[in-house]
Amino acid sequence: MQALILAGGEGTRLRPLTSTVPKPVLPLAGRPFLTFMIDWLAGHGVDQVILSCGFLSDQVEQVLGGRYGGVDLTYVHEDEPLGTAGPVKLAEAGGLLQDRFLVLNGDVLTDMDVTAQIARHEETGARATLALVPVDDTSSYGVVPTNPDGSVVAFLEKTKGEVPTNLINAGCYVMESDVLSLIPEGAPCSFERDVFPALVGDGLYGHASDGYWMDIGTPERYLQATWDLLAGTVSSNLPPSDESGSLIYDPSITSGARIGPQAVVGPHCSVGAGAVIDRAVLQAGVIVGADARIVESILGEGVIVGEGARIDRGAVLGAGAEVPPAGHVPAGERVDPGVRVG
Ligand code: GDD
Ligand code: MG
Repeated sequence: MQALILAGGEGTRLRPLTSTVPKPVLPLAGRPFLTFMIDWLAGHGVDQVILSCGFLSDQVEQVLGGRYGGVDLTYVHEDEPLGTAGPVKLAEAGGLLQDRFLVLNGDVLTDMDVTAQIARHEETGARATLALVPVDDTSSYGVVPTNPDGSVVAFLEKTKGEVPTNLINAGCYVMESDVLSLIPEGAPCSFERDVFPALVGDGLYGHASDGYWMDIGTPERYLQATWDLLAGTVSSNLPPSDESGSLIYDPSITSGARIGPQAVVGPHCSVGAGAVIDRAVLQAGVIVGADARIVESILGEGVIVGEGARIDRGAVLGAGAEVPPAGHVPAGERVDPGVRVG
């Protein structure tokens, strides 16, 4: 089975982390994000993944290379962003697609049963079958009401106000190649706004999926996904977390610091004595001075935090940012890469 992963968005809601690292390979729990998706897909028989890249795309290829965990990786690069559907047309034009394939949004952490979704797709004879998951707040997703037989009634991308269902598009599609006739060549096109609305009543089905599902595209959801991976709420092959529910990568120095609960310390970090890392993420090479306190925030690669500094809940610091001794980053603040606070 073949899967195309859409990995070309700019990841604007995760800036400043995605100013220097594209979202698909942003470390999550210490590993390039897409490695979780590829492991999950491989578990459902996928042996070839096409990565559709745009923004900072060379980095995706540098990080993942031509093969990962028994899966062949092929790259398609766009000169201009083609949206979500345009890249699939581009892959077809390159002769890369088979008659049936999966299409995935490249920012979804999940252990949904794709095998069951493919079986359902065959049963209904659909042209495209969308995985659907329930969420509490549907406003940032595509809402997909269906008939009892699974056929889609409407595709409502990011609508405000009353919605007919809490089932949303999970960004995982089984697709027959004839759907691509609805996509123009060489121009931006969106599955959510152009293709799926046009397919309603003409072979578009939904399949409600069980299991864990999270779009990691905002700092809040990135942190929640981190905690869920550490707690094992979503299946993965990460090493087990320690007794504080944390993951500390080698080589790192943390003696005398309080790491956890639910913290990630990437490789080559140094955390001084008396410092507290509480439900926070340190990517690789972060240096934290003694007695600093970092709570529920994300620190990009190479961030430097001075002695006794404080970083509050929801803060996001880009790669190489610096917080001086006794400095303070207030809750929710975003610090650009390389910037020295205060
Ligand atoms: N190659 C390429 N080119 N990929 C792109 C482009 C592009 O121009 N634009 C976006 N992508 C990729 C992103 O990298 C991401 O993996 C995926 O397409 C979806 O884009 P997002 O920007 O993350 O969309 P969203 O989260 O707001 O909404 C989408 O996902 C929701 C589920 O998480 C929609 O598909 C919604 O309907 C859905 O509910
Ligand atoms: Mg998204």
